[in-house]
Amino acid sequence: MPEKIEIRGVTKKFGDRSTGRQTVALADVSLSVADGEFLTLVGPSGCGKSTLLELIGGLTTPTSGELLLDGAPITGPGLDRGIVFQQYALLPWRTAQANVELGLEVSGVGKRERAARAREFLDLVGLDAFRDRYPHELSGGMKQRVAIARSLVYEPKVLLMDEPYAALDAQTRESLQVELRSIWQRTGGTVVFITHGIEEAVFLGQRVAVMTSRPGRIKEVLPIDLADRDSGGDIRSTPEFTSYRHHVWELLHDEISRAAEASRTKEVVEVG
Ligand SMILES: Nc1ncnc2c1ncn2[C@@H]1O[C@H](COP(=O)(O)OP(=O)(O)O)[C@@H](O)[C@H]1O
Ligand SMILES: [Mg+2]
Repeated sequence: MPEKIEIRGVTKKFGDRSTGRQTVALADVSLSVADGEFLTLVGPSGCGKSTLLELIGGLTTPTSGELLLDGAPITGPGLDRGIVFQQYALLPWRTAQANVELGLEVSGVGKRERAARAREFLDLVGLDAFRDRYPHELSGGMKQRVAIARSLVYEPKVLLMDEPYAALDAQTRESLQVELRSIWQRTGGTVVFITHGIEEAVFLGQRVAVMTSRPGRIKEVLPIDLADRDSGGDIRSTPEFTSYRHHVWELLHDEISRAAEASRTKEVVEVG
């Protein structure tokens, strides 16, 4: 399969003007994501996951190294990449329907088609009956579904998701995980999904990339070979699933211990 996204030797540093100190958020990260792949990314808090996603989204530029999309350098944001942030980022003065139509307005789709497609995607995330509600009239899970519908409606070839389910209750999260897998299978896009949930990473990803604590590097990329993931059964209880989960846990646990040790000796590192 051709590479959709290529990250080559990317380093990202942030300067703090008040202290004059530099944070190395990412150190020499290289990673490729194939066209149509579903990749999940896990790592300790503060290891640079969001920074990496923002770089792929073209919202920031690397200090060194390069990022390519379809073989061409990423120079800025574009409608070829949809981003779902952890916080819902809905416009409060627009209904659910009008929030979903937003991406289509930007790409110049006509009014009638916009309305029809927004309705179709609200239906897909189970919110057909709520399309005239405003964000403050929706629960957290519903708002996140609207944000997901909005990012899916213009069918971006690449979907970048930054801990989109972190604030949801366990049941809503599991049902949205199943929905996302089925949408991905239907549309054939490329997904990069950040999470701090080990189970979520294993359930969703064809591969799980585990990052080291700061400065973030790719520690291991683990292929997940689970046959019956989308059968609707209790896949999470199978020995295969448990073994993958444990492997990722061990990789992360090492990093969290290392970060805690570093914080005792030099600087404070968040763990979570
Ligand atoms: N705009 C910024 N300015 C300064 N430091 C930043 C900025 N964005 C992120 N950082 C720092 O870079 C590191 C990685 O942050 P982030 O990518 O948000 O980590 P994660 O998403 O894995 O929790 C952290 O130490 C964070 O404080
Ligand atoms: Mg983050």
